[in-house]
Amino acid sequence: MQTDPIAGTFSGNRGLQIEEPLIFEQGEAGRSGVDLPQPPKIKDRLGGLGRKRPVGLPGLSEPQVIRHFTRLSQKNYAIDMGIYPLGSCTMKHNPRLNEKLARIPGIADLHPLQPESTVQGALELIDTAAHWLKTLTGMPAVAMSPAAGAHGELCGLLCIRAALEARGDAREVVLVPESAHGTNPATAAACGYTVDPIPANARGRVDLAAFKAKLGGDVAGTMITNPNTCGLFEDEILEISRLVHEAGGYFYADGANFNAIVGRVRPGDLGIDCMHINLHKTFSTPHGGGGPGSGPVVLSAALAPFAPLPYVVHGRDGFRLVEHDGVEGATGKAFGRLKGFHGQMGMFVRALAYMMSHGSDGLRQAAGDAVLNANYLMALLDEDLTPAFDGPCMHEALFDDRFLKDTGVTTLDIAKALIDEGYHPMTMYFPLVVHGALLIEPTESESKDSLDGFARSLIGLARRAKAGDQKFFHEAPRLTPPRRLDETTAARRPVLRWRPPADQPKAAE
Ligand SMILES: Cc1ncc(COP(=O)(O)O)c(C=O)c1O
Repeated sequence: MQTDPIAGTFSGNRGLQIEEPLIFEQGEAGRSGVDLPQPPKIKDRLGGLGRKRPVGLPGLSEPQVIRHFTRLSQKNYAIDMGIYPLGSCTMKHNPRLNEKLARIPGIADLHPLQPESTVQGALELIDTAAHWLKTLTGMPAVAMSPAAGAHGELCGLLCIRAALEARGDAREVVLVPESAHGTNPATAAACGYTVDPIPANARGRVDLAAFKAKLGGDVAGTMITNPNTCGLFEDEILEISRLVHEAGGYFYADGANFNAIVGRVRPGDLGIDCMHINLHKTFSTPHGGGGPGSGPVVLSAALAPFAPLPYVVHGRDGFRLVEHDGVEGATGKAFGRLKGFHGQMGMFVRALAYMMSHGSDGLRQAAGDAVLNANYLMALLDEDLTPAFDGPCMHEALFDDRFLKDTGVTTLDIAKALIDEGYHPMTMYFPLVVHGALLIEPTESESKDSLDGFARSLIGLARRAKAGDQKFFHEAPRLTPPRRLDETTAARRPVLRWRPPADQPKAAE
């Protein structure tokens, strides 16, 4: 009888880590959890379009279905289970107070087509959240409807394009640093711009000389993340802002990392024209894994008239939602709409709850604690790992893979081994300007104990790699179901949906 090579169990399971086949692999044709009488024969009214063969649903009983999904749910890693150190993603605690408020029936049961007079409170709530965002960023206007950071980027660039077209000066190029999040160049390209990359200097910041050299009459604007994705403050930001404006372009700030500076720096004072704010990063709303999220965009006076519809205004009889250009209170220049209705109401409630429960001093402290935690980790790790740049960091600690030189172990192997340690790995191989990057963002949510535990595991792994234990790393993760995947085949020949064995593609396909 065969046993699992690592755990020595007959079942192949490792304690509560249970191998879970797909539901289709567990089902049996013809088996059912219910026993219903045969329906009487009825006359077919589908004109011959009726299904010719069974739907192919797996045949399982109710307890089998429940166990399948419960076991799957137990395989999830979540911010409510432990540190989630994904750099650039900002996985922070979602306070339960926010959830409680978002579930108040008067809020949760609102319908977006209710008459304005019945949703005055909701419009006031959106307006209040907008007021906080404008105050914290030092900007005069905000578009609330974008549904994520990347959607906010689209909103900002469409405002820039509309502003350029309005002055009869359509331009073609957007300058984006090489360290930028992939959504920046992707958004610029989606808006029809040519993306011109700006290299990073030896200090991990925008290379100002290269930036200057690329500025010209065809530059629509630049997209700069600050603090940047190397976890560093762009200390020449005022000069960048001055230069891009002097060249007639606009300054898009990627505000994904606003969580490191909120309450301390007002992006409006840096001369930006627009910036998206990922509410999940700075204001603790749940990270939706692609949505539904919220990425409001703050706008300068120059871009505000082009903001998308709808927006909330104060009318004679209270709050109004401006849904169309050409009505009272509209600017008449909106570039269009980005989204059905007015955005993610549930996210506005949660973000506002976070802002009001913390107050401006609490938000400032949260930013300070996020930076402190990242620097504490950096200090714990800097002898065993290799920090990518000298000096302190902002809210995320970035390492390169020099500490793995000649060990035969890679950043990927370290990440796999971390899973066995019970941790979600950090962001790997991003930003691209750093070789074999390990980007760790602990956020302000983590306690000293939690940071110490995480660092202990990483230090242990780094030392094990240097001691030459390649086999251990190449087999990792050893304690998960399933174990290490064949990433090359997964990338080259991805199997994205289950097919019955008879329909499986032949090996040569
Ligand atoms: C720097 C940066 N910009 C933009 C984005 C895109 O934001 P979202 O995932 O909300 O679309 C992210 C997301 O992680 C990011 O880290």
